[in-house]
Parts: sequence; C-alpha cells; structure tokens
Amino acid sequence: MFSLTIAALALLSGVRGDSWGPAFSLGPTASAIIEATTTFNPGTPPKNPVDALFLWPGVSNATSGLIQSGADSIGDMSAYCGASAGQWCVSASYFGVVDGQTTQLSGPLVPVNGNTPINIHYKLASDQKTWDQTVTVNGQVISTLKSYDGPLINGGWGTGTELQASSKGTESVQTYTNTTIILQSADLTFINTRGIGSGVVASDMLTADNGKTWTIASITIPSMN
Ligand SMILES: *[C@@H]1O[C@H](CO)[C@@H](O)[C@H](O)[C@H]1NC(C)=O
Ligand SMILES: *[C@@H]1O[C@H](CO)[C@@H](O)[C@H](O)[C@H]1NC(C)=O
Repeated sequence: MFSLTIAALALLSGVRGDSWGPAFSLGPTASAIIEATTTFNPGTPPKNPVDALFLWPGVSNATSGLIQSGADSIGDMSAYCGASAGQWCVSASYFGVVDGQTTQLSGPLVPVNGNTPINIHYKLASDQKTWDQTVTVNGQVISTLKSYDGPLINGGWGTGTELQASSKGTESVQTYTNTTIILQSADLTFINTRGIGSGVVASDMLTADNGKTWTIASITIPSMN
C-alpha cells in the first residue's frame, strides 16, 4: 500500500504513535534525489488546535533522515512560535540521527497566516553531502536548516499529513503547486512509483529532459472531516 518512502517515514515515527492522512508519494527512484522544490499551501489551521498536526513535503531514502520543512499546529501555538488564531508555525526541519542520537532539528519557527503559499526548496550542495532547506514566504526567507545525508540514493518524495496524540487531522485542503524533483541521473521509471492516496488529486507528472527533472503542476490533498 505504501511506497518505500512513506513506509520508512512511518517506521521512523512509529514510536510516537502517529497516524497519517492520505498522501501523494514517489519512490524509490532507481537514481538519487538531489533537489526538490514546491509551493505548499497548508490551507487554514484547525480552529481549536490540539497536539499535534504536522504537514510537510518530505524527501528521504530508507536509511537517511527525513528532510521535512512544513507547517505545524499544536496545542499552545503562542508558546510554540508566537502564532495567534488562524496561523501556522512554519519551519525548516529534519528528523534523523545527529551525533548518534535520533532527533528533530528545526530552523526558526515562524508564524504564518492560514492559506498562504510557502515555497520550500531542498538542495544537495556541491560538496555532495550537505542538504540546504530554504523556506520562503512572500519573497522573504523565513527559515533555513542544513543536514548531511548526501544524494538520496533510491530516495523518494512524499507529502506528509502526520497526526500525533489528540489530533483530529486537517480541516482544510492542502495544495502543492509546481512541484519539481531533480534526480542525479535520468530515471524514466520514476513515474511508475507514484502512490496516490484516497481523495488525493494530482495533475500529470511530466519530464522535459527524459527523466532527470520531474514536475507536477498541482497536487491537492483532501481535508479530513
Ligand atoms: C541513502 O543515501 C545515502 C547517501 O547517498 C547512501 O549512503 C545510502 O546507502 C542510501 N540508502 C539506501 C537504502 O539506498
Ligand atoms: C516552477 O518551479 C521551477 C523550479 O523551482 C521554477 O524554475 C519555475 O519558475 C516555477 N514556475 C512557476 C510558474 O512558478
């Protein structure tokens, strides 16, 4: 049912007793993921926030950490990032092993109004080791983070709607616009790894360079009411 990527994500997070909303996923590629960009609109946050809802586009492979910039809604939004009603807390984020410890690292957590497009860019640096996450809202970089997994060999890309503890899920649709995923070398079979969850609507997956760069104009994740 799940792609390798999402299964790996679920495994990583399993100890926390998460559950998951419907997802769009890709992977594993026969090549490696080296860059991914999307414009994510998380919609409006839950009206009565509880712990905890995490929405993100993720990239990983079965043994790497998870690169996961995204929008969070938890019980005390004011303490978490200074958000008020109707706002999300948005940050660059990474879940993985750092200095021998499994940990969640985050860049600055910034309040962002509901229904706002958030540009999320992940790129492997020229050292072939460092991943740079850049989160931009209205042309302003609001959060960045570095992690060090290298080219994500046999990696995947997927949307995450992650519910923890008392979360009832989303009250709004989420959209991903102009998603671009760049592979280290062409993989025309990447399209065959698509996983499209119940109620998820996605446009065609296209490549203009024979399988190295893939674009998906729009992905819509349904609300969970
Ligand atoms: C994930 O990518 C890393 C970095 O290139 C690589 O060392 C590792 O073998 C990959 N894992 C899998 C399962 O392919
Ligand atoms: C889509 O994303 C690509 C890669 O990030 C970018 O070069 C292009 O300008 C974007 N197109 C639109 C219409 O936003």
